[in-house]
Amino acid sequence: MAPQTTLDISKRDQTVNLGAGPSALPTDVLLEAAQGILDFGGTGMGLIELSHRSGTFKKVIEKAESDLRSLLDIPDDYCVLFQQGGGTEQFSATALNLLAYHAIANPDYVSKHKGSTPPCDYVVTGSWTAKAIKEAKRLGINARLAVDARQHNDGKFGVIPPVSQWTLSDAKADKSAMLYYCDNETVDGVEFPSPGFPIQDLPEEYRKNVPIVADCSSNILSRPIDVRAHSIIFFGAQKNVGPSGVTIVIARRSLFDVDPDQGVPNGGPRIPCTLAYKNAIDNGSLYNTPPMFSIYTSGLVFADLLNNKGGVNGATQRAKAKSEAVYKVIDESDGIFKPTVKQASARSRMNVTFRICQAGQDQPDSSLEDEFVKRCSAKGIEQVKGHRSVGGIRTSLYNAVSVEQTQLLVSVMQEFAQQIRQEKKN
Ligand SMILES: Cc1ncc(COP(=O)(O)O)c(C=O)c1O
Repeated sequence: MAPQTTLDISKRDQTVNLGAGPSALPTDVLLEAAQGILDFGGTGMGLIELSHRSGTFKKVIEKAESDLRSLLDIPDDYCVLFQQGGGTEQFSATALNLLAYHAIANPDYVSKHKGSTPPCDYVVTGSWTAKAIKEAKRLGINARLAVDARQHNDGKFGVIPPVSQWTLSDAKADKSAMLYYCDNETVDGVEFPSPGFPIQDLPEEYRKNVPIVADCSSNILSRPIDVRAHSIIFFGAQKNVGPSGVTIVIARRSLFDVDPDQGVPNGGPRIPCTLAYKNAIDNGSLYNTPPMFSIYTSGLVFADLLNNKGGVNGATQRAKAKSEAVYKVIDESDGIFKPTVKQASARSRMNVTFRICQAGQDQPDSSLEDEFVKRCSAKGIEQVKGHRSVGGIRTSLYNAVSVEQTQLLVSVMQEFAQQIRQEKKN
């Protein structure tokens, strides 16, 4: 006899999941995914039980790619790759692939530069870019700090210095292999102010010649991005896209015709076969077994955003409305809620980070923060504790969090601040 299949999701309706990732996904999408992993399209088999080389899965991955292309206006000369290894693996994959291309395009670079390899410039505005440059250095890459935002803010993240204060490599003499940045720093709540990374402020020579790489893991699909201005844009799925497991890479095709089986000449790095973009390009992301569930569900999220939720423009408007509502409570709390990001224009629309202080005090009070977490939970608002490395509170307002759900957070925050003021008076 077939087991009982009725799912109980009544508690889900009463829960507001503000986790930073893995995070909330649209309920309709998850219901469709649940059906698909049990019996996909009446085949009697779940999608994740089928061969990844079956015609059925091929259609799924092609549809996901095509919807993402529509959402982000991705031109034909860019490929869309479904990779594994998370955002973390792209820390090395981006640099290795671009250094290999650089070696092929500039055969006499190493001899002309006295044996040194080309620089990779990093714009460090938070914990994830700090990790990316650390990994590059660990691999022996000539990684250079274009800017470390902590040096402009008493050792803490929370500002984005203007391009005029960065130290970029010399595009002509050094021929940098890439400029790497993270559009939204998930842990620190720092995001490049809209419309995004200030590419137009880079020196013209640099902008035209140095490949630009963006980690958009935690804000992709929440505002438009100029794909053509980048060489690589990557994002792990587990925030605005889908379940963890897949990392999507959008890359300018012409830069990655680097065959790892031939080795890379001219002092370029060898690239592990699963990291070489060419292998993914040549095999339609099926070089080895892909994370099928994550790709499938991400595809459902793309279709839902495209067909039912006004695409990226719809998401942009909602992200603005939601984050502005929460920052308004913070700004009107008389210092009870203290934003961790000093530069107001760099406050993230996705991850709102703040500390909580007693009325009239400047120092955060961790017992008040614990009480706030409990208060949220009592109202059905979950996963608001800040990242373990920085503490405090982090409320993540990703695409699947509705304006109404954000309103509930706003009212809990207002009541909490009121209670603190009242306690001070008594
Ligand atoms: C902006 C950003 N980059 C990279 C990563 C690393 O991703 P993963 O844990 O999938 O390796 C994360 C993870 O949350 C992130 O938020």
